[in-house]
Amino acid sequence: MSSIFVLTTRGLETISADEIAALPDITVSSTSYRRINAECSGSLALLLNLRTVDDVYLTVGSWEDVLHTRDMLAQFNAWSDHLEVTQAAAQINSVRPIPEKPKFSVSVSFIGKRNYTADEVKVSIADSITFNHGWAYTPDDRDANLNIRVFIEHEQAIVGVRLGTHAQHERLYKMVERPGALKPTVAAAMLRLVDVQAGQRLLDPCCGSGTILIEAALMGAAVQGGDNDPDAINATRQNMKDAAVQGEVEQWDARVLPLRDSSVRRIVTNLPWGRQTVVNEELGSFYQQVCSELERIIHEEGRVAILTSVPHLLQFNYLQPVQTLEISLFGQNPIISVFGRP
Ligand SMILES: C[S@@+](CC[C@H](N)C(=O)[O-])C[C@H]1O[C@@H](n2cnc3c(N)ncnc32)[C@H](O)[C@@H]1O
Repeated sequence: MSSIFVLTTRGLETISADEIAALPDITVSSTSYRRINAECSGSLALLLNLRTVDDVYLTVGSWEDVLHTRDMLAQFNAWSDHLEVTQAAAQINSVRPIPEKPKFSVSVSFIGKRNYTADEVKVSIADSITFNHGWAYTPDDRDANLNIRVFIEHEQAIVGVRLGTHAQHERLYKMVERPGALKPTVAAAMLRLVDVQAGQRLLDPCCGSGTILIEAALMGAAVQGGDNDPDAINATRQNMKDAAVQGEVEQWDARVLPLRDSSVRRIVTNLPWGRQTVVNEELGSFYQQVCSELERIIHEEGRVAILTSVPHLLQFNYLQPVQTLEISLFGQNPIISVFGRP
């Protein structure tokens, strides 16, 4: 049995917990701010396929009475002598090869004020691991075989070893980035919210660099999208090629889509809200026209999920909000709104 914890975007905890719970041999034990704790009695490999999560860690220790004083630096070093990192490395080795003496990096994050820095905590922990196991420390995560992650939250800390080689929210396919590009895990969560099925048609009318289309195509959906910016179309096509997925992409104006009435069952999109992407007209009028167009093309049993920081501008005649979720993204708190017919 392996104890794991999974990090996700703030606001997506329930969606990620559902995704984890759907895996075989996994029991979700608790969910808290940005974190899901679980027990895994089978293979760890399937955890690397999770699409909505930021990272998966094997739990190797938890510490109580973590104070803000500098004498804690010696205490971190002493506590680290008991971290079960060798056992974790052996378990991770069943998923990807780990050398007998791996190189490791350490990441530290805090909640609460401290009289020590994250770098000082890293050194304290790294010294203990090197001394006890003969592993070589590297400050560069890309150069490490294993990443040891410490979360200090007020007077408690939890320590994990990352299952994957790289952060799980990073996708290997994402080559061409554009301003306003969506975090892929959020795209995956939006697709889960509208229950996109393999073979189903999925539309993103403002596709930018194509994150939603690619995540949907990887789930087996038949994807179609467009953007009014030719650079976005090129970026989407390139990213789809890199991700080895296919779909229809064309330059269009989302306010007048070349699609038949009631023809689309799933629409997922991240509308421009003016911070990272500029709409050359008043935002209210743009939203009004896009909403009316989405309402025209959505099938009567269809679902629409929209991410925006200005949800009050989403006004429909027939579609009703089914669910709303506030998330944290790039220092903002945008809302995912799901709409359908009553
Ligand atoms: C927030 S970005 C979408 C980002 C995208 N989800 C991604 O991952 O890259 C909004 C997109 O809407 C596009 N857009 C703005 N006005 C548009 C319009 N009238 N028709 C279609 N797309 C439009 C912008 O060019 C931009 O790429």
